[in-house]
Amino acid sequence: MRHLLSPLDLTIEETNTLLDLARDISKNPEKYSHVCDGKRLATLFYEPSTRTRLSFEAAMMNLGGTVLGFSSANSSSASKGESVADTIRVVSCYANICAMRHPKEGAPRVAASKSAIPVINAGDGGHQHPTQTLTDLMTIRELRGSLNNFTIGLCGDLKFGRTVHSLINELIRYENVKFVLISPKELRVPDYIIETLDEKHIEYEVVEKLEDVISKLDILYMTRVQKERFFNEDDYLRMKDFYILNKAKMDMAKPDMYVLHPLPRVNEISIEVDDDPRASYFKQVQFGVYVRMALILTLLGLDKEVR
Ligand code: NCD
Repeated sequence: MRHLLSPLDLTIEETNTLLDLARDISKNPEKYSHVCDGKRLATLFYEPSTRTRLSFEAAMMNLGGTVLGFSSANSSSASKGESVADTIRVVSCYANICAMRHPKEGAPRVAASKSAIPVINAGDGGHQHPTQTLTDLMTIRELRGSLNNFTIGLCGDLKFGRTVHSLINELIRYENVKFVLISPKELRVPDYIIETLDEKHIEYEVVEKLEDVISKLDILYMTRVQKERFFNEDDYLRMKDFYILNKAKMDMAKPDMYVLHPLPRVNEISIEVDDDPRASYFKQVQFGVYVRMALILTLLGLDKEVR
């Protein structure tokens, strides 16, 4: 049985096949509307979510399946002390596949080791968020036509931002992708990521000011400062408005520099940027449904049925 715990659980060929399937779904949604008839997705969310949970649910419903689950630890038996390992054994009796979000890094991996159904990591602490990465890949590929040969600036909370960690992990598998890591000193990417970039001789820069580098970027990936992972409120308050992408900064960027953001946005992109044709974060949300549909089909082994 296959799980998706890290983006690297799919080979690069499998990832590309999945993105092709997601594209076909986007073009011909009706072709897929009954592929999951009789199947059920469980969404086990121990941490808040809007997009990820709802897009998983929408994805399964678009495929003809049904959903059940919980949206906070308080409304599950976790509040009574049940372990993730026990919960997944129980949920395996109710559903065919599950998506789990958990504040503890590695919780979905523990679940997968005890699960009778495929487990999808929908975000584990500050660690990984593989389905957001698939969403980001689809967005970049649809906008640029390729996942090779570009410079991406990742800006904001690179320390706690799991979408950033997963995306870097994935993009180093493609050709000639250069990274510009833009963050305050306190929120730089974890050392293990820098070590991987060094080991693989990937080109990267670490900078503090967005204005200094924006003109050379092909993609700008903005992120919010992850308030819930800070140990003290003062540090959060000091850093929360460190970056604000506004019209003046967009004027310094290339005419085809696309702006992505996993959302939710707080203050880091001013709303005046939303009308700029390069602002792609709401398109990204739509792509998120298609890639999750493609992923559900792939993990359930139903991806060949409709071709
Ligand atoms: C992200 C997450 O939960 O990691 N959101 C998402 O899933 N789209 C980013 C965030 O919370 O800032």
